[in-house]
Amino acid sequence: MVLTTEWQLLSHPVLSRFQHELWVCQLNSPDPHVSGNKALKLKYPLQQALKEKKAGILTPGGAFSNHLVATAAACAQLGLSSVGLVRTDQLDQHNPSLKLCLQLGMQLIAVSRESYRQRDTPEWQQHWQQQFSDFLWVPEGGTCDAAVRAVSEFPLGQTPAGQADWLISAVGSGGTLAGLIRGAGPASVVGIQVVKDSGLRDKISRLAGNVTNHWQLQQALHLPGYGKTDRKLWDFCCGIKEQGIMLEPIYTGKALYSLLQLIEQGQLSVGRRLSFFHTGGLQGLAGLAYCGLIPSTDSGQ
Ligand SMILES: Cc1ncc(COP(=O)(O)O)c(C=O)c1O
Repeated sequence: MVLTTEWQLLSHPVLSRFQHELWVCQLNSPDPHVSGNKALKLKYPLQQALKEKKAGILTPGGAFSNHLVATAAACAQLGLSSVGLVRTDQLDQHNPSLKLCLQLGMQLIAVSRESYRQRDTPEWQQHWQQQFSDFLWVPEGGTCDAAVRAVSEFPLGQTPAGQADWLISAVGSGGTLAGLIRGAGPASVVGIQVVKDSGLRDKISRLAGNVTNHWQLQQALHLPGYGKTDRKLWDFCCGIKEQGIMLEPIYTGKALYSLLQLIEQGQLSVGRRLSFFHTGGLQGLAGLAYCGLIPSTDSGQ
């Protein structure tokens, strides 16, 4: 899959005040549903599935998962099948993300929340692998060592103006940040954690491997929690859109908003070049509008 990077210099009063230069890096493929960190995280599993002549990819995800949609789209492009194990009691035919997965040819299977909690255990994976023995297993969010390797190879630090001092990304399952840490070179890394997960720091350290790069994990600040948004955050995303950068409030919008708060609190030294990874996920806007969390006219879908 051919990937293209697009860099944009962001202006914001907080950045000017603290003399920071902030570059937003968008990573696109010809398919709009395979962008950002998903395009990287799926790269090697897709190659492996093709090389080993697998029927396709088998993977779990939430009912509005960006990862499921990206997997469905990438598999469809490459002539692979895809199966999504969806954390839900019942498949909602009107859910825009699930509708998209189905349109892209993904087979969806509803998995109760209770069962889904076991998703990282070998027993749970074996259970599903036995039913889809010809499929390659990809963990939730696409986070696996191959994904970390692909992200580590991505030159997020090399902005059009030169080497960045800080690399910044939203953090969910941790694979993206682990890759950025592994490949950071001279830059430091800041992850903005948008989920509650006390084990995330250890998981990221483990995934990143034996690295000595400087990195930190910050909880997204003063916001309503994972999968939630509020008017202030949505207004922030709409404001950034005026500069031609579309964000969604669950990952990229929340992370950028929180980053500006951290800067305002003086938590990053003044006058630095920052590189913010736009990790994609714009398909999620339709789901937020469907759930009434943002105005439907604003979803851009
Ligand atoms: C749009 C978007 N950004 C960031 C992330 C976080 O990436 P990771 O799960 O690798 O931490 C995700 C996760 O799934 C995502 O969908």
